[in-house]
Amino acid sequence: MSGMRQKLQGRLVIATHNSGKLWEMRELLAPYGLDAVSAGELGLPEPEETGATFVANAELKARGAVQAAGLPALADDSGLCVDALGGAPGLFSARWAEVTPGGIRDFAAAMDKVEAALKKAGARPPYTAHFVSVISLAMPSGEVESFEGKVFGTLVFPPRGTLGFGYDPIFLPNGLSRTFGEMMAAEKQAIPADGSPALSHRARAFQAFARACL
Ligand code: IMP
Repeated sequence: MSGMRQKLQGRLVIATHNSGKLWEMRELLAPYGLDAVSAGELGLPEPEETGATFVANAELKARGAVQAAGLPALADDSGLCVDALGGAPGLFSARWAEVTPGGIRDFAAAMDKVEAALKKAGARPPYTAHFVSVISLAMPSGEVESFEGKVFGTLVFPPRGTLGFGYDPIFLPNGLSRTFGEMMAAEKQAIPADGSPALSHRARAFQAFARACL
C-alpha cells in the first residue's frame, strides 16, 4: 500500500452523516491543515451498512464517498460492545437508537435498552464494555486502508453527563471517575504530544491513521 503512505494533502471528505462523529473528526484533523468537507454537506447518499464487521462497514462508507466525490475519503465505523450481551449492540449501536419523528436517533432510549438487556441477561455490575472505532481511508486510486482503536471501561446507570453523543453518558473508561458524557471533548479526544495512547477509541484509531498518513 505504498501510495497510501504519501502524506495526505488538500481536501478530503469525511464520510459520515453523524454530527457527533463529524465534529470529533474535524477537531482531530484541524491541526493538520486539511480541508474536510462532510458527506452530508456534499449531499452524498448514506450507504446501507451491510458489512459483517466494523472494518467492512468503515471501508464500505469510505469507498462510497471516494467514488461519489472523487476526493480522498475518511470514514469511521464504531460501536459499543458489552461483554454480558455477547458484544451487542456492537455493529448495531446506531440502530439500537430508534429514529424519532423529528429524524433524530433516541440514545436515551437506546441506553435504557442496554440496561434492560443487561437485567434480562441476569448480568451483575461491573458491566464491562468497550468502544471500537475503525477509521478507513479510501483514495481515488482505489486503495483503502483501515486503522482500529478501542477503549475499555464499564457501564453505569443511570447515565451521567450531557456532553458528547451516543452512549457517552453510560461509559466510564477504566481508571477514570467521569463518564464520557461528563468530559469535555478536549479530554475525551486529546492526542497526547508525547505519542502515548489517546483516551477515546476514535482518537486512538486516528493516532494510528495520522502516524501512517499525515
Ligand atoms: P455507526 O458507526 O454509524 O454505525 O454508528 C456507531 C454508533 O456507535 C453511533 O451512532 C453511537 O451510537 C455509537 N458510538 C460510536 N462512537 C461513540 C462515542 O464516541 N460515544 C458514544 N457513542 C458512540
